[in-house]
Amino acid sequence: MLLRVENLHAFYGKSYIIHGISFGVEKGEVVGILGRNGVGKTTLLRSILGLFPPRKEGLVLFDNINISKMPTNKIVEMGIGYIPQGRRIFPKLTVMENLSTPIIKGKVDKSSLQMVFDYFPVLKDKLKQLGGTLSGGQQQMLAIGRAIISNPKLIIIDEPTEGLQPSMVNMVRKSIKNLSGKSITIIIADQNLENALELCKRIYVLEKGKIKYEEKQENLSIELLYKFLGVAKSRHYDFARH
Ligand SMILES: Nc1ncnc2c1ncn2[C@@H]1O[C@H](COP(=O)(O)OP(=O)(O)O)[C@@H](O)[C@H]1O
Ligand SMILES: [Mg+2]
Repeated sequence: MLLRVENLHAFYGKSYIIHGISFGVEKGEVVGILGRNGVGKTTLLRSILGLFPPRKEGLVLFDNINISKMPTNKIVEMGIGYIPQGRRIFPKLTVMENLSTPIIKGKVDKSSLQMVFDYFPVLKDKLKQLGGTLSGGQQQMLAIGRAIISNPKLIIIDEPTEGLQPSMVNMVRKSIKNLSGKSITIIIADQNLENALELCKRIYVLEKGKIKYEEKQENLSIELLYKFLGVAKSRHYDFARH
């Protein structure tokens, strides 16, 4: 297991959000944390990464090392790239400056930069443009580029296609698929069933801060997923395509 989370509990002040979650991700796997808005997906990811809110209890092992007590910058240095919900690129910095921000010592090396351009050719033409002038989809590519430039072992991405135009949704999905093809381990938190079904090899469904369902892609019960996610009939996924 590359990442193992055991019995994680987290609170915002007195509100109890994560109720004892345990899960794991194997090397090379793409795992989905699925659930409706407000079930605790973002809180779970943040608390794994040592961000607010702090864990009240629980163990997080990364590459067999206990990272439960480590500060976030150390966790990131160990090889976890985090792409938060809402993307959070720096709008007033150029694309190049955005890509350079995770590099703590020295400059971005050429081969890592080339790797980002191989994944996202569109960024190469916009290096001097301010991040805030990019479209939502391009900003997401920049956010992913920034996370992969330091060659992380694991990427954690929170609602990658939220608020994007449909054409951009497909592009971002494709780029995540490309990453997973390169055997990068990925955790995706999402309420978008299509993302999960197209990208994830295994899915955990969260409800009220607990894992209610866990299944491999090939054995998933679509009825159960609809129920957990409250997917309206009109938005039913076109399974005939798969
Ligand atoms: N900063 C915060 N302070 C207090 N409560 C919060 C905060 N952020 C989120 N919450 C609450 O925690 C619960 C889980 O939120 P969140 O982890 O963002 O869910 P999800 O990512 O699944 O939509 C929600 O009830 C939300 O209102
Ligand atoms: Mg969230």
